[in-house]
Amino acid sequence: MSERIRPLIAGNWKMNGTSAALNEISRLRELIAEARRIAADILVCPPATLVHRAAQIAQGDAIALGGQDCHASRSGAYTGDISAEMLSDAGARYVILGHSERRAGHGETSAEVRAKAEAALAAGLVPVVCVGETETERAEGYANAVVGDQVTESLPDFAADAEIVVAYEPVWAIGTGKTPTIDDIAQMHRHIRQLLVDRFGAAGESARILYGGSVKPSNAGEILSTPNVNGALVGGASLKADDFFGIISAA
Ligand code: 13P
Repeated sequence: MSERIRPLIAGNWKMNGTSAALNEISRLRELIAEARRIAADILVCPPATLVHRAAQIAQGDAIALGGQDCHASRSGAYTGDISAEMLSDAGARYVILGHSERRAGHGETSAEVRAKAEAALAAGLVPVVCVGETETERAEGYANAVVGDQVTESLPDFAADAEIVVAYEPVWAIGTGKTPTIDDIAQMHRHIRQLLVDRFGAAGESARILYGGSVKPSNAGEILSTPNVNGALVGGASLKADDFFGIISAA
């Protein structure tokens, strides 16, 4: 059952980091090598410019690399965009899709996110599909409905041997230091789990549902022990390997 799913601790560096930041991948590798036991899968999603070099430094399976977005098409006249195949070719195994910063800043709709997720699956990447309500939507009592619609409309159908990750990130908790109560996190993750099971059956039972929004070493233990929370999507606290490792250790 979902309680025994191996957690995924994912770092989203957003638009942060140049070559010097690759030292954090080296440091993370060291910390993982020194640890007696790592009870989670680890993913770092740096800017696309660093994916290839980060994958070379990560060497092996301990740290997976991911992109932060991809185009829905395989190739073509899309200046500035990156395809899922390109990310995979650079060494990525995952790609974050539909982050609220892209939904808000680039007007991405759930239908577009779904098309991107289909492209990611076709390229052999695991899509990490983000959903989450705004503060107003929560205050007005629409959090479940908004997140439910995003889950339903953003997720593609997928083959039984493929994998999809959902990340619940309340928009108002991102980069603010604010987090929902543990009861609210548990309620929303239960809601998402139900939608996944209703639609995908066993694959929905085993799909990982990450929580994201102001996760740090000091609150990770409690959040990660919440039912149906199968990992974390971490922004600010993933930029420094030591902080990120603090969250990994909490898993
Ligand atoms: P913070 O951890 O900085 O709140 O960011 C969360 C996030 O947006 C991860 O995708």
